[in-house]
Amino acid sequence: MAKIISANVYYVLIMITLGIESSCDETSVAILNGGSVLVSLTHSQEEHALYGGVVPEVASRAHLEKIDGLVKRALSECGLAPNDLELIAVTDSPGLAGALLVGISFALGLHTAYGIPVTGVNHLEGHICSLFIDRPNLTPPFIVLLASGGHTAIYNYQSYNNCKLLGQTVDDAAGEAFDKVGKLLGFTYPAGRAIEEEAAKAVNHDQHQDHKKITFPTAKFTSPEKSYCFSFSGLKTAVKNFISAQGEKYIDTNRPEICAAFQKNVVNTLVDNLEAAAKAHGVKTVAAAGGVACNGYLRRELEKRFGADNVMLPAPRLCTDNGAMIAMAGYMMHNSGRTRFPKMDPGRGI
Ligand code: KG4
Ligand code: ZN
Repeated sequence: MAKIISANVYYVLIMITLGIESSCDETSVAILNGGSVLVSLTHSQEEHALYGGVVPEVASRAHLEKIDGLVKRALSECGLAPNDLELIAVTDSPGLAGALLVGISFALGLHTAYGIPVTGVNHLEGHICSLFIDRPNLTPPFIVLLASGGHTAIYNYQSYNNCKLLGQTVDDAAGEAFDKVGKLLGFTYPAGRAIEEEAAKAVNHDQHQDHKKITFPTAKFTSPEKSYCFSFSGLKTAVKNFISAQGEKYIDTNRPEICAAFQKNVVNTLVDNLEAAAKAHGVKTVAAAGGVACNGYLRRELEKRFGADNVMLPAPRLCTDNGAMIAMAGYMMHNSGRTRFPKMDPGRGI
């Protein structure tokens, strides 16, 4: 069925899904037709930069201010009315309770007013489903690295109903390490992108000029059940101790080299674990999702290590928190008959 929007705009309707994401500091809404994005709008809350991290109360209030306007704009930008929506997908866990409640309450309001079916979506499942957006030919199996500000984990994605957690961080998430080290080096929150940009200014970092060569230790697990686990809190402490030992003047002139050494350490750890998991499970295709997957150095290293044809990466705008990945997850849940009423669940897995 085609829906005529104007004289020269029409959609061949597959299924119209509204995705709502408000689990942390991004208010994001998107409308998908099947697995394709019609519109995606995100408001990133900059007010947290003042505090060096996300303040839950501030986040909830900012979501409440923005969500209504974003949904109205999204509908109007693709010429749709609320009644055209066939499914509402909303992040219901994990996340900040007050922030989640804003998105869930808004979704339930639309559900009550217009009778549109609603489903709760696990945020981590949303990140993984971002891989399928505009990629109808992506076929499992693949091993996926999910690296964000709140989570870092490796999954064996065999099929839609068979996605197993292989390992995860035992302390800080990779993005959290970027943010905390960034704070130590004077960058505002979130610091991942700033560290990447600063690292790109490092002179000859890879050429091991002695006076510039900075390295930090990497945590390794010896027990087999932790083979694909991560630990980043020791690395953060190592950077902190290095900064205190070297003093301000050294830091000011060597910030790019410190960023490059830190970034290299995190990326090597992520890629090494992903490679070990892929080899052990005999899977050729690997993928990465979550905010840290925006990192250009990580993306290049993955392609170098596995070959570009074997690496699946969402566009950077789909790596950080966004409503499109939530809509995609809801659409896939619908297709598998697995939708569920939103339910805030403190659990972390998927
Ligand atoms: O997925 P996301 O938007 O939110 C969570 O679910 O946590 O990820 C945000 C995280 C932040 O820690 C941010 O510093 C990190 O992703 N990030 C990056 C880059 N862009 C965002 N880390 C490294 N390099 C980047 N270019
Ligand atoms: Zn996220």
